[in-house]
Amino acid sequence: MAKTYSIAIDGPAGAGKSTVARRLAKELGYQYVDTGAIYRTVAYFLDLWGVSPKDIDGVTRYIDELTIQIEYDEEGTQHMMMNGMDVTADIRTQDISQKASLVSAHAVVRDMLLDMQRDVAKKYNVIMDGRDIGTVVLPRADVKIFLTASAEVRARRRTAELLAKGQKADYSQILKEIQQRDYQDTHREVAPLKLARDSVKVDTSDMDIEQVIGQIKTIVGKKIPV
Ligand code: DC
Repeated sequence: MAKTYSIAIDGPAGAGKSTVARRLAKELGYQYVDTGAIYRTVAYFLDLWGVSPKDIDGVTRYIDELTIQIEYDEEGTQHMMMNGMDVTADIRTQDISQKASLVSAHAVVRDMLLDMQRDVAKKYNVIMDGRDIGTVVLPRADVKIFLTASAEVRARRRTAELLAKGQKADYSQILKEIQQRDYQDTHREVAPLKLARDSVKVDTSDMDIEQVIGQIKTIVGKKIPV
C-alpha cells in the first residue's frame, strides 16, 4: 500500500481545530476526519435510549447495538451514520457536547472506535482532529499540532459564532461549559487530552484565523511534501 500522510490536530474544545483542519484539508487535498463527531454519535445514540453517559453498565450493554460509519459526500463533507441513519446535524448541540465528553471517558467506548479512526488514516492522507490523535490514535503521525487558546478567548469566539448565526448565547454559561469539558477531557484516565511529546503547541489566543492557518502551513510544510 502507498504511504499515506497524516496530520494530527489535538486541543481543547473551541480552539478552532475544525476550522483550521477543514481549510487545510481542502488546500492540501487531504481527507478531514472530525473524531469528536464519532464520540458525539455514541452520546446521541445512548441518549435516545435514555442511558446516562456516566452509567458504565448501561453504556457497556447498549454499545453493542450501535453501528457507526463515517461517510463522505462529493464535497468531502463528513457524515455520521448511526445504524444507517445520518445524524450529522443532530449531534451538534450543547447537551450532546457535554454527554460526548462524559461518554468518551469509558475505555469500552474508546476501544470500539480506535480501529475505525486508524483505518481511515491507512486509506487516505488525513488531517484528523480530536483529543488523543497524536498520543493514541496516530502516534506516528507525520505532523502533530496542539492547538489551544485561553478558555476565555474560546468562550468569546463561541459566543460570537452563535450570535452571528442568530442563536442565543450567554458568555458566562459558555465559559462554564468549556471549563467543565476541559476538566473532564484532561482528567480522565484513558487517553486524556495532553500534549504529545513530539507535537508543536500553537496558542491562538492572540491570533486571527488567517494567522493560525499561516503558522500551521509553515509547520506542515517543514515535515511533509505539500
Ligand atoms: O471535538 P468535539 O467538541 O466535537 O468533541 C466532543 C467530545 O468528544 C470531547 O469533549 C471529548 C470527546 N473526544 C475525545 O475524547 N477524543 C477525541 N479524539 C475527540 C473527541
